[in-house]
This record gives sequence, C-alpha cells and structure tokens, in this order.
Amino acid sequence: MRLRVTSLPGDGIGPEVTRQAIRVLEEVTRSFGHELELTEKEIGGAALTAFGDPLPPTTIAACLASQAVLLGAVGSPAFDRNPRELRPEAGLLRLRQELGAFANLRPAVYYPALRASSPLREEIVKGTDILIVRELLGGLYFGQPRSIEGAMGARQALNTMRYGEPEIERITRVAFELARGRRKRVLSVDKSNVLECSRLWREVVTRIGADFPDVHLSHQYVDSAAMTLVQKPAEIDILLTENMFGDILSDQAGGVVGSLGLLASASIGGPVGLYEPVHGSAPDIAGQGVANPLGAILSVALMLRHTFQLTKEAECAEGAVVAALDAGLRTRDLAKAGERSVTTEEAGTRIVELVRAAETTTS
Ligand code: IPM
Ligand code: MN
Repeated sequence: MRLRVTSLPGDGIGPEVTRQAIRVLEEVTRSFGHELELTEKEIGGAALTAFGDPLPPTTIAACLASQAVLLGAVGSPAFDRNPRELRPEAGLLRLRQELGAFANLRPAVYYPALRASSPLREEIVKGTDILIVRELLGGLYFGQPRSIEGAMGARQALNTMRYGEPEIERITRVAFELARGRRKRVLSVDKSNVLECSRLWREVVTRIGADFPDVHLSHQYVDSAAMTLVQKPAEIDILLTENMFGDILSDQAGGVVGSLGLLASASIGGPVGLYEPVHGSAPDIAGQGVANPLGAILSVALMLRHTFQLTKEAECAEGAVVAALDAGLRTRDLAKAGERSVTTEEAGTRIVELVRAAETTTS
C-alpha cells in the first residue's frame, strides 16, 4: 500500500516530536512492505514567520492532496499580541475546518507501567481506558457573531455557542459506532440544566442512541462528569461531548492517567484525517530535546488504524510504546525524582528498534 502523508511540525516541541513519530512511521511502513510518500509543510507560528499566514494556501493544498496529516503542535508566546486570525492557533482551527474533521478522538489509557505518574491511587485509576469523542467544528470555537467592541474600560466581548441538529447527529453516530468496538457504553456530557445548546444536544443524542439498542447510553452534566473523571475514571468507556467541554475534559483525562505527553488524537470525519498529540507546543521546554514523543508516535498509530485501516501496523507501533514503557523508558515528564530519563531522540530510537524487533520475531 502507498501512504500519502503530509507532516506539519509547527511550533515549540512540535518539530522535535514529529521527527521521531515520522521515524517510527517510516520503520512501520518499511517493515510491513508499504510505501510512504511524505510532504512537509508549515503551519502555526512557523508559517506566520515564513508567510505571514498561520495556514498558507500551499499547506492547505498539500494536506488536501494527501490521505492523512500528522501535526506536531501550534502556539508560541511570540504571537500572543497578534489579532485572532494571525495567531498560530487560528491556523489549526482553519485546518480542522478545511479538512472537515468534525470528530476528535482522544484516547486516555492508563498504563500500569506508569503507576507512579498518575496523581490518583492505583485502585482508582487501574483499568482506565477512555475514548473522548469531542465535536470539533462547532460550539463556541466557531460560533458567529464574535467580537470585542467598545471603548477602553467599557469593552464588551461576545462569543456564540451554536449547534445544529445535523452537527450533533453526525458526531453522535461516530461515538455509538466506536462504542460497538469497545465496551458498548456512551456517556454524553452536557450542561442541559443551563444551556439551550446542551438541551438540543441531549435530545438529539437520545434520539440517535435509540438506533443503537446494543449500546448503553447515559447523560451527565459537565461539572459532575469532571468529578466522575477523577473519582471513577475506570467506569467511563466513551465520553461524548461538544467542542469546549471536550477540550477541557481531555486535558483532565491526560492528568488522570498521568501523562499528557502520551495522549494522541485523531480528527476524522472529512476526506483527510488529522492526527496530533494533545500536549501542545510546550514553549518552556522547546529546543531542549527532552519532549515526550510518545503522544506523536501514538498519533501515528491512530493514523494507521483510522485512515489506512492498517490494524496490525497500528498495533505494532502501540505495542512498541507499551513495551518501551514496561522496560522502564521514561522521558523527563514521566521520570520520578532521581530516575534516569531519556531524550526525545533516544525515545524515538528505542521505539524504532522495538518495531524492527517485532518484525524479526513475526516474520
Ligand atoms: C487542543 C488545543 C487546541 C484546541 C488549541 C491549540 C486551538 O488546545 O487541540 O486541545 O483548543 O482545540
Ligand atoms: Mn486543548
């Protein structure tokens, strides 16, 4: 098979983690006899610096001409004072729109090897395997009108939360279909005691849920769900929610399993899938070679699974990550005080070696 992939390293630690993820992708494709066609383009602050646009037309064209996009991260304090459309984040939001990527899948899995990294007691976090299904193209992030207006000292800011029934329907179907391949439970999170958007959300989710009688559906308010996420994380299978709630709860889920650096994501639903680690650009550690590349590597695994339907290849990459953690591989974010930690590059090299070793044992 020929895999056409565009890589967008972006800002901060993005280029460092993307480099390692690409090495792993190259090794997996090579060892399973596939061909990789890779194009690299700019996004975010890197694109602003080069082209004055956080998502230049050349980047959009390359992404749309490929089958999947691997993104590192966007965001840099250098652009904090820019108007919204000229911030690095605007490039990512427009890219999600251009790709029609309305379904954001964010797995939060607890790895027993990382027992010491979770702030929760082991008996609570043990068995946690959550898939957050976040609606990605609606709600407050994109609702119009939006503005800051008025005279200094008396300015008014406005954002609009808006959801249409078809938008809720399509993300709900994605969640229920994915539930069928898992523990068959969907927890829909909203704020329907206060927000109209959430009332419509709950109504539509309930209606669509009736088409999936084999999947158990429950509803919870977002405040209460935030508590469940830390008290009984292992009870949650699929957590389905709107854009903003999903943004917040997915970082919280990362904290619960003890490793935001390990969280991967897939944004699907359009013609081209977008894959990115959840951690962001981490400007405080950028350029030091200490970032955790495992979130980016696991994003490559999601790409192999969701865009290319290459299950064995995805499992190979995921298996290498788990084996490395079991054998004690720790980047700085995961290491306990006094424990030896590896660099970004060493972590990548180890995963590549494990992928290669898996090839020799299976062939
Ligand atoms: C994420 C990020 C983005 C978001 C930002 C960078 C626009 O926080 O992917 O979770 O809020 O969606
Ligand atoms: Mn976020």
